[in-house]
Amino acid sequence: MERLQKVIAQAGICSRRKAEELIQAGKVKVNGVIVKTLGTKVSGKDEVVVNGQSLSKEEKVYYVINKPKGTICSVHDEKDRKTVLDYLPKEERIYPVGRLDYDTSGVLLVTNDGKFTHRMIHPKFNLPKTYVINLQGMLSGEDIYRLKNGLNTKHEKYAPAKVQIKQKDYTRDRMIVELTIHEGKNHQVKNMMEALGHQVRRLHRKSFGCISDEGLRPGEYRRLKINEIKQLKKMSETEGEKK
Ligand code: URA
Repeated sequence: MERLQKVIAQAGICSRRKAEELIQAGKVKVNGVIVKTLGTKVSGKDEVVVNGQSLSKEEKVYYVINKPKGTICSVHDEKDRKTVLDYLPKEERIYPVGRLDYDTSGVLLVTNDGKFTHRMIHPKFNLPKTYVINLQGMLSGEDIYRLKNGLNTKHEKYAPAKVQIKQKDYTRDRMIVELTIHEGKNHQVKNMMEALGHQVRRLHRKSFGCISDEGLRPGEYRRLKINEIKQLKKMSETEGEKK
């Protein structure tokens, strides 16, 4: 345990004298609570925030998990349902990058890096996401044309998508379609298909940016490699520039 003003000074934020002034002025929070008492002792586990800036030197971690269907993408669930975090190591303050629906499976990034998360999900950065859709009904030529040229519905305007028909089952009137979209609107794929008069039977996200589900069974995860993290960041720059 160290004195708060010493910890702040050692983090290189300011001198110890200035740190004392900031503490007394109510500019320092420890674990979310303003602390004005000089000499308060803190440990490495305490989160110290000075003028809104965290001193935490927490190692940044980046995972990809193949989210199983029947799990939610929040940190906690008031209904006590299984969350994707139940599958990941417990010790870090990690959270999912964006969301997949409860019944959707597939690639989900999980991290404790807020800046990275922002880049991955902000509409301006536009990373491609590919979904495998098990569809009830068949997409017509006109449906495909509309998807490729930017589907407009009563409620939404969607950007152009890439469409690949993978399988057709005429007997059961079903189709497997791969759809690549650059946006991440709420229930986007299901809403797009519904607007075309079709129901999604199963939805799986096969890839997010350059990260695919390859080698990961449902519930399995791995750490992202350094070059994958770099590539994701780079993709967000170049995709964002296309706007
Ligand atoms: N689109 C959907 O409709 N659901 C998801 O979970 C992801 C994309």
